[in-house]
Parts: sequence; structure tokens; C-alpha cells
Amino acid sequence: MRLDDLSHADAWGPEKIVTVSDTRTGMRGVLVIDNTARGMGKGGTRMGPALTVTEVARLARVMTWKWAAVDLFFGGAKAGVRFDPASADKEAVLRAFARALSSEVPEEYVFGLDMGLTEHDAAVIQDELGARGAAVGSPSEVGGVPYDQWGVTGYGVAEAVDEAVRRDGADLHGARVVVQGFGAVGAAAAERLHELGARVVAVSTAEGALHAPDGLDVPALLQARSQWGDALVHHVDGSRPLAAGEELTLPADVLIPAARQDVVDVAAARDLSASVVVEGANLALTPKAQAVLAERGVSVVPDFIANAGGVVAAAYAMEARSSVFPVEPGPIRAAVSERLRANTLHVLEEAARGALTSHEAARHLAERRVRTAMEIRGRVRSS
Ligand SMILES: NC(=O)c1ccc[n+]([C@@H]2O[C@H](COP(=O)([O-])OP(=O)(O)OC[C@H]3O[C@@H](n4cnc5c(N)ncnc54)[C@H](O)[C@@H]3O)[C@@H](O)[C@H]2O)c1
Repeated sequence: MRLDDLSHADAWGPEKIVTVSDTRTGMRGVLVIDNTARGMGKGGTRMGPALTVTEVARLARVMTWKWAAVDLFFGGAKAGVRFDPASADKEAVLRAFARALSSEVPEEYVFGLDMGLTEHDAAVIQDELGARGAAVGSPSEVGGVPYDQWGVTGYGVAEAVDEAVRRDGADLHGARVVVQGFGAVGAAAAERLHELGARVVAVSTAEGALHAPDGLDVPALLQARSQWGDALVHHVDGSRPLAAGEELTLPADVLIPAARQDVVDVAAARDLSASVVVEGANLALTPKAQAVLAERGVSVVPDFIANAGGVVAAAYAMEARSSVFPVEPGPIRAAVSERLRANTLHVLEEAARGALTSHEAARHLAERRVRTAMEIRGRVRSS
């Protein structure tokens, strides 16, 4: 993306980039509204010491596709502040950032959660702007919907797994599942898969991995995670430790990469034994790996289909901003389940019909919806 000569926009957006700064606190931030053909721009707010405009613009574009794929009427947007979230001055910078965007918020943008921001930060933004409507993701004690804490994204990943397994004519009961990454997404996915009767045979964190072919004790793992975090792998008895990355190719029926991007490359795609791979993490599979898995007949559920639970929950949180009734996680989980299952099935069927990878099928679905909205609004000529 080149910002200096205004050649950064393509046929989809971004429609608007607002950069803000404040000399008193050293705050430097940006809001990118990518495409509003299907509704106002909505996407989380990130804080990081090396954040760039390009990074925020790319994330805003991902939001355009995510909302369209999940068929909810928001457009893509994202905001970010370049600052170290571990700094003691975080709150002052965040307040300055919120103030600087007060002409855009909440009509054109509503702050939300992303890397570097917590539920508490969402409440601070609401406080600064004197409006509950200014941010979503704040704690339930102030009328918010703490969807991250509720593990909604991981729950949705597990629902997508179940749907993909059923489509293959199999049953999750007793199915062997490997989960790479036991963070917010991976742990919540493992919890739901355990509930659905699956056998979680391996989990990993940045500190190591655990493997038990007969199945790990998931409730004990969750308990250990709340006590030791990623170091839980050093505190669980009776399971065999593994070398880094080895978990990807263990004997399994289902693989869930829920840690980082690009972890499944061509070599791993050739070697892995799972017949269902569901991307909990964004961009976990390289494009070449996606092609290899499609060729091998492995059912793949792409990231922005499988991990859209947080997006569905954010839509609920947007609605809840004007309600005085507390929001419960139950109805949100039900909506996540319904939408993600339908989308999983759709993408796998489309991919099979059109001899595409499921990533291509998902992207086509999202692009078609955004393009149609742009045509109906007269922003582009009908094709
Ligand atoms: N949290 C959400 O709602 C959400 C929504 C959509 C997408 N995602 C994506 O899902 C992924 C995980 O997010 P999260 O919120 O669970 O993060 P997190 O920080 O809570 O957890 C990440 C986990 O991955 C582990 N990990 C890191 N490197 C690893 C490695 N090399 N091998 C094995 N494990 C490793 C970490 O130790 C940790 O357990 C990210 O790609 C994120 O962008 C998250």
C-alpha cells in the first residue's frame, strides 16, 4: 500500500483513513474504514508498539470479508494505536486516542477488542467519551458483552469442526482431535469439543505440547491453564511431551491450528493425518498448503469462516449498547453455532462443486455479497 500518492485504494476500499496524534501523550493512531456497502464499518481496536497504517488497513479489509461471509450487515473497519500496551501510560494514550476520534465515534466507528486491548480498556473508552455506545467488549458489570472472556470464538471453531465431521459422514464421538495453541481460542474449542464427545489427544502452547493417545483430561487442562497459563504443559501428569510442531502430524482425525499464522506449510500438509482441518488462528495454512490439502481430499474450514464466532458476538454487543437488560452468553452461542455451521457446510459444498479450495470458495462468497451491495447502491456498474 502506498499512501504518499493516494494510490493505496483498490476497487473495494479503503473509503476513509483518519490519522490522529497528540503531542502531550505521544499518541499516534489511525482509523481505517474499508468498505461500507453492507453497513457501517466495524472491527476491533489494536494497540502495538510497531503498528502501521498498512497493518490496520489490511485488518480492516479482512473485516469487510468476515462480515460479508457471516452475512451480517456491517462493513469493514479497524483502528489502531502505535504504543506499547504494557506501558504505564496506556490509559492516558487510549483516552487521547478515543477523544481524537470523537467526531467519527459512534456514527462511523465503534471501538472494540483486538491485540493489546482488554475488556477494561473498552470501559475506559466508554468513560472517556461519556457514551456506552462508543465501544463494545466491555465487562458485563458495566452492561457490556465480554465475548472474549466467554470463549465465543473457540466455541464457534468447535461447532465448525462438528459440522465438517458430520458432512464427511463421520461422528465426533471418540474422534481424535489435536489443538495447536491453548489460548483463548484453542482452550475454548477444546472445552466444547470435549462436551461434544471428542477425544482431545494433544494440545500445545509456546512452552511445549502434551500427547495422550487415549485422550487428555480436558477439564484438568482447563484448570491447569487458569493456574499456570501456557506453562500448564509442565504441570500435567501422565502425558508425553512433544517436540515443537510435532503435534501437527500426530495420528488424528481433526487438526485445529489455533496459535499462529503459516504453521501448516506444504510439508505439514502432506504429512498430517487428519481428515478435517479447521483454522482457529488467522492464516494458519499457507496458500500452497491449502492446495495440497484440497488435492488430498482433506476437509478444510478456513479462518474467516471458522473463527467468526467473535464477530457474531460483536454484532450482539453492538445491539446491546442500547439495552438496559444484561446479556447472557447462551443466545450468543446459539447464534454462533447456527451461522458457523451453515457457513461451514456452504463453503465445503461450494468447494467440492467448483473444484476450488475452501478458502477460494469462502472468498468468492464474501466478494459476491460485497459486490452485489455496491451494485445495488450504484457504487459500481452491474456486471
Ligand atoms: N481471540 C479471538 O476471539 C480470536 C478471533 C479470531 C481469530 N483469532 C486468532 O486466533 C489465534 C489465537 O488467538 P488467541 O486469542 O487464542 O491467542 P492467545 O494469545 O490467547 O493464545 C495463543 C496460544 O498459542 C500458543 N502458541 C504460540 N506459539 C505457539 C507455537 N509455536 N506452538 C504452539 N503453540 C503456540 C500460545 O502459547 C497460546 O497458548 C490468533 O491467530 C488470533 O488472531 C482470535
